[in-house]
Parts: sequence; C-alpha cells; structure tokens
Amino acid sequence: MTLHLHPNEFAQRRAKLMQTIGKGNIGIIAAAPEYLRNGDTHYPYRQDSNFYYLTGFPEPEAMAVFAPGRPEGEYILFCRAKDPVKEIWDGPRVGPEKARVEYGAQQVFPIQEFETRKAELIANRNVVDLKPHVAEMRLHKSDGEIRLMRKAAEVSMQGHTRAMQCCRPGLTEAYLEAELLHEFTQHGCRAVAYPSIVAGGINSCTLHYTDNNAELRKGDLVLIDAGCEYQYYASDITRTFPINGKFSTAQREIYEIVLAAQLAAIEQIRPGLPFSETQQTVVKILTQGLTDLDILKNNVDLKNFYMHGAGHWLGMDVHDAGAYKINDVWRPLEPGMVITVEPGIYIAPNSKDVDPKWWGIGIRIEDDVLVTANGHEVLTAALPKTVSDIEALMAK
Ligand code: GLY
Ligand code: MN
Ligand code: MN
Repeated sequence: MTLHLHPNEFAQRRAKLMQTIGKGNIGIIAAAPEYLRNGDTHYPYRQDSNFYYLTGFPEPEAMAVFAPGRPEGEYILFCRAKDPVKEIWDGPRVGPEKARVEYGAQQVFPIQEFETRKAELIANRNVVDLKPHVAEMRLHKSDGEIRLMRKAAEVSMQGHTRAMQCCRPGLTEAYLEAELLHEFTQHGCRAVAYPSIVAGGINSCTLHYTDNNAELRKGDLVLIDAGCEYQYYASDITRTFPINGKFSTAQREIYEIVLAAQLAAIEQIRPGLPFSETQQTVVKILTQGLTDLDILKNNVDLKNFYMHGAGHWLGMDVHDAGAYKINDVWRPLEPGMVITVEPGIYIAPNSKDVDPKWWGIGIRIEDDVLVTANGHEVLTAALPKTVSDIEALMAK
C-alpha cells in the first residue's frame, strides 16, 4: 500500500503561507523544468520540492501564485492544457479543470496565459520571495511527513541489509548498488535521494565517490552511503562494513571511534540543543580516539581525517531546507526536526606521518534522527551498526 499525505495537509500549508506573507503581498513559485538528456529522452522528472510542498502538483510547466486576500481567489495555478495527441505518448495530463477540483486552486489557467496574467496579478501587490518562508515550514515535520520519512528509512534499511548480506570479495561496487536499488524500486522508491555511494577500499576516502565500478577486495572495507526517496521524502544512511564479513584489528579500532562519536552525538539530541553541538561532540571524541592511536599528533589538524559536518537537516531534500543559524547563532533543535548524524574518519593512502597500517581506511556511520518532545528517535535504528551485529548479519 502506498502512503500519501492527506490533501488537507497541502491546504493547511497554503493557509499558513498566506498568513505569513500577508495581505497585499504576492508570491510566485515555478514547477521544476524538464531537462533533456539527449534526442527525445528526458532525465527522470522530479517536481521542485517547494512547489510540491505547497501544491502537491506533480507536473512540469506549471506556476503557483499565492495572493492572500485576493477576491477572485488567493491560490492560482497555471498548468499545461490537456493535449490528446501528446497524452497518447506521455500519459494523461491533469489539465486545468481537474487541477481546480483535485488540487484546491481557486483559479486555474493554461500555462500559456501566465505571462499576460502575471502583470494583472502583481499590480498593486508586493512580490515576496517565498523560499525562506517555505524553508521554515519544511523544517518542522508534521505527523504525516514523519510517516513518509519512516517509510523511506525502512526501505533504505532493507536495501542496506540486502547489500550487507550479499557482499563478498570479487563482486563490484555496482553489484552492491544494484542490490540496494532492487529493494528501493521494489518498495515503490524509483528515485534515490542522492546518487548512491558504494566505495570499496581506498575509494571510501573520497567523500562523494559515485563511480561505483571497482572490484570489492578481500580484506577491504566498503562504505555505502545510500538512501531512497519515498513520496518526495528522503532518507540518508551510511554503513561501513568488511567485504569478507570480518573487521581486521586496525579497521575495528577506527570503526569503534567513529561509532562512539556517533552514539554520543545522537545521545544528546533533544529540544533546545544547539544544532552545532553534535559536531562539537564528534570532534571531541574523534580527536581523543585518533590521539590515543597515535594517528593524530604534532598538532596535526583533525580536518586531515574528518573534513565534513556531523549532519544536516533531512526532509524532502537530502540536505533539506531551513536555516541553521538565526541572527548568526546556531538554532536550537525543536520537536519535529529531522537531522542526520554522520561522523567519519578517512585516512587517505600515503598519509604523511601515519603508520601505513591505517592507510586507505575510510569509515562513516550515518543515521536519521527525529527530534521528539522529550528527546529523539533514531528512524534508522533497526539497521545493524555495531561490529558484532554487522559481523553476525554478514555471517548469516
Ligand atoms: N549522502 C549525502 C550526505 O550524507 O550528506
Ligand atoms: Mn547525510
Ligand atoms: Mn549520506
């Protein structure tokens, strides 16, 4: 069964937006364009997140106008007209009539009329940028949105589990990617939230590696950072595990540091915690761990081995909308926000002054965490991440 947001939710969002922008003002937002790949072939279409958030309307070549207090209608939609010939090739279009009935617009016009009608719409009104207002709304997830994010998390966990169970030396990175996509697609997620990273051996030290074409070798780790998109909502999970099912001593020593940092950062998540605190915790624990192993010494910067943030907002986009600071101050977490927690250690081959036994080890562990009224809930908690749980799953 496919889960959907209740149509009322889109109406509530529009009502809230109208209130925020206020009478006398007007906001306009465009649907995402279609992009030609070559010839007559397009890239898979994905509606613009803000546009979808406010309209639920899935087609390109559309414009939504929000004009609070406008007597003829506050929510005006422009969309493609019906076209029986084109619809033979591409399937049915919503069309203006159905758009009014099913998508709640008070007035709907063919997209061709947008430019001429725009002048009349904005006359005597202030045009405001909707982006910051929608970003603020998107940052706080409703129960309906959380339901979809739970589902995205669940499907992604199934993909990661399958990849761990199938993994063995001699396969390619792409083979594991296909295992992930098998679960995603079969469970209704034809889009990934971002290109899957399947990075064996030293490729794990390339943060956004997506070639995914190398052979997986016995004795190496593989880092998988992959998440599906379910009904416009993202998940974002990273697991790192040994290709032959057993961590070496060196791999385990680094892994335990990353895991300790991740668990400590997650543990503190609750309303009121400044967003920056997870990074502070991660930096502290990684610094101590790498110092204890004599990898970090002589005032070497941790950035040589950990060069990204500990997380980001997660929602319709993998790096979701929403300001991280307000008046230059890190904002406190609030119930309904969803963040990732994703520390890592990456020891590039030939790292100077580092014992070669650590070279090429790249580890990241990433989970999706919902801030609740009293603390937090890890949406991706069911996916194994301790050394013993991963080894047990892979031995099955
Ligand atoms: N997968 C992108 C990220 O973790 O931020
Ligand atoms: Mn992430
Ligand atoms: Mn990720």
